[in-house]
Amino acid sequence: MRVRKAVFPVGGLGTRFLPATKALPKEMLPIVDKPLIQYAVEEAAAAGVEEFIFVTGRGKAAIEDHFDHSYELEDLLSSRDKRSELDALRAAIPDAGQVAYTRQQEPLGLGHAVWCARNLVGDEPFAVLLADDLILADTPCLKQMVDAATETKGNVVAVMDVSREHTARYGILDVGRDDGHLAEVRGLVEKPDPAVAPSTLSVIGRYILMPEVFDHLGKMEPGAGGEIQLTDAMAKMIGTQPFHGLRFEGERFDCGDKLGFLQATVAFGLARDDLREGLGDFLLSITKDLQK
Ligand code: G1P
Repeated sequence: MRVRKAVFPVGGLGTRFLPATKALPKEMLPIVDKPLIQYAVEEAAAAGVEEFIFVTGRGKAAIEDHFDHSYELEDLLSSRDKRSELDALRAAIPDAGQVAYTRQQEPLGLGHAVWCARNLVGDEPFAVLLADDLILADTPCLKQMVDAATETKGNVVAVMDVSREHTARYGILDVGRDDGHLAEVRGLVEKPDPAVAPSTLSVIGRYILMPEVFDHLGKMEPGAGGEIQLTDAMAKMIGTQPFHGLRFEGERFDCGDKLGFLQATVAFGLARDDLREGLGDFLLSITKDLQK
C-alpha cells in the first residue's frame, strides 16, 4: 500500500504546558534539540510520505516558519562555516510544494481537525500523526504501520496496552482475533470509563486510514466530550473494511503530559551518541542522591 500523504493536527491549545505554550505552539516544544512536530514529520518521511498536511489554528505560525527557509540564519551559518548546523537546518525542510496548511477554524475535536484536510487528502489512503505521541523505535512506527496496512489491505491504528485505570484517556479497542502483533478491531470506543472499557488496548496517535473515513466525519456527530471524534468515525468503518491494531515495536512517550515529556527528554538524550555519557553520569549521580 502506498501512503503518500500524512495529516498532522496541530491546532490544539496545549493548556497543560502553560505558561510555556502561551506564545509557542505546543508542537514546537523541543525534545533535546528538535521540536516535537519535526520528529513526527521525519517519521512520516521515513515511511514514504511525500505530502505533509498540517491542520493548524490561531497562533501556530511558528510551525510554518520552522518548515521554511530562514535565509538570514542560513547565510550567517554559511559565512561562519557552520556546515553541520546548516545541513541539519536544511534537512528539516520539505521540498517546495510538499507542505500544505489548512486551518481548523473552530476547536470541534480531533475528528473535525482531520475532516478539515479532506480536500487536500482526496481519495487515497493517508496517515494521521499526533505529535504529542513520540515514539522511540529502531524502525519508525509509521513504517511498521505501512507494512501492516500493506499486509492487511486496510486501516491500521497503532496500539499498546495501558493500565485499566487509564482507559478514559484513550480510544479503546474491542478486540477480535489477536496474534499478539496484529489485533483485529471489532469495535472502538473513545475514552471509556475503566468499568466499561472493552479492553485495555489503546489507540496511540498514529493512524493509517482509508478515505471513506471522511464520509463518516462529515456527518459531524458529536461524541465523547461533545467533540467530533476520529474514533467514532473509524468505528463506523469496522465490518466494511479490514481494520487492525498494530502493537508496534518501540517505546511511546506521552509528550502532552509533563512526566511523559521529561521521560522522553531523558530517553532521547540517552539515545544520542553526543549526550549518552554525560547524561548517563548525571542520572547515576542523582539516582544515588535520591536513594540516600
Ligand atoms: C486522542 C484520541 C484518542 C487516542 C489519543 C492518543 O485523544 O482521541 O482516541 O487514544 O489521542 O494519544 P487526545 O489525547 O487528543 O485526548
